[in-house]
Amino acid sequence: MKLGSLEVDSPYFLAPMAGYTDKPFRYICKRYKAGLTVSELVSVNAIYYKNSKTDELTQKSDIEKPFLIQLFGSDPDIFLYAAQAVEDRCDCIDINAGCPVTKVVKAFAGSYLLKDKKRLFAIIDKLKKHIKKPVSIKLRKGFDGESINDTAFYKELQERGIDFIVIHPRLRSQFFKGEIDYGHIAAVKEVLKIDVVVNGGIDSAETLEKVKNITGDGFFMIGQAAIEKPYIFEDLLNGKDIKRDLVFIKNLIREHFLLTVEYYGEKTAVKNFRKFFHRYIKGVNNAKIFKNMMNECRDSECVIKLIDNLANT
Ligand SMILES: Cc1cc2nc3c(=O)[nH]c(=O)nc-3n(C[C@H](O)[C@H](O)[C@H](O)COP(=O)(O)O)c2cc1C
Repeated sequence: MKLGSLEVDSPYFLAPMAGYTDKPFRYICKRYKAGLTVSELVSVNAIYYKNSKTDELTQKSDIEKPFLIQLFGSDPDIFLYAAQAVEDRCDCIDINAGCPVTKVVKAFAGSYLLKDKKRLFAIIDKLKKHIKKPVSIKLRKGFDGESINDTAFYKELQERGIDFIVIHPRLRSQFFKGEIDYGHIAAVKEVLKIDVVVNGGIDSAETLEKVKNITGDGFFMIGQAAIEKPYIFEDLLNGKDIKRDLVFIKNLIREHFLLTVEYYGEKTAVKNFRKFFHRYIKGVNNAKIFKNMMNECRDSECVIKLIDNLANT
């Protein structure tokens, strides 16, 4: 099936999440049939000033196709510079117009762009004029109650050549909590010709059905639920939630950890992997004890032993 001009195998996508959607984790989600993957948000200024970390953030694995690189920033010229610098590494450039974090908003980027639409349009125009790859945008339904995106705004995105739009229908002021207004997306889908991807609160095949009842069929993006169960993409495709046993979970944790070691090296991997380990073992017997033990681990051997012992609870 086609998302804009991109060929996707599945309509269920992995959302970008800073600190989580690195190359090893995206690989795991892709193996469980995520239809599309996105880098975490990457600062255009960091690319412009040649910060070495941006190379790590924009690398993809061979199985990631299509792969989007998401950029955030405020200056249209620097935005274009960054997009051109990474264009060859991805299939589409995604503009972040949803990040609610104060530091980002204060730098006139992320969800701030929903308040400064002139600046947002200037960024889009630069990219659409000079970038060969498709350009998408991920946004919220507005910055605050005073600035909810209206139909004219969405039509203008379409007219300026945006290839598809991902909507997380909360306000910036809600951060990640509170009501998710799927009706907002249903209304946008009514008036646009380009594809609209639904994001927010989808954590199971059961929830997906409820969301589809409001938004209709189409494309969906999953964030936090994938951290706990990266196999959710397979469940969504099959239309049913399958409880995996501990042997499956242990194999999954081990595979993910080893990929993390391969990518970052042992010391960084052990540290970076804690947050994933904590999520994976939610609901496992003595989870709290295992979490504390994981925090004490300093090398791979310790982590692997811990994963093996999960069966012995
Ligand atoms: C830890 C974390 C980091 C996130 N980082 C990004 C990001 O880099 N770019 C972005 O567009 N959204 C980011 N988001 C928002 C998610 O992509 C998504 O829009 C939001 O979590 C709602 O979807 P969900 O309910 O499926 O998690 C982040 C969310 C979380 C929880």
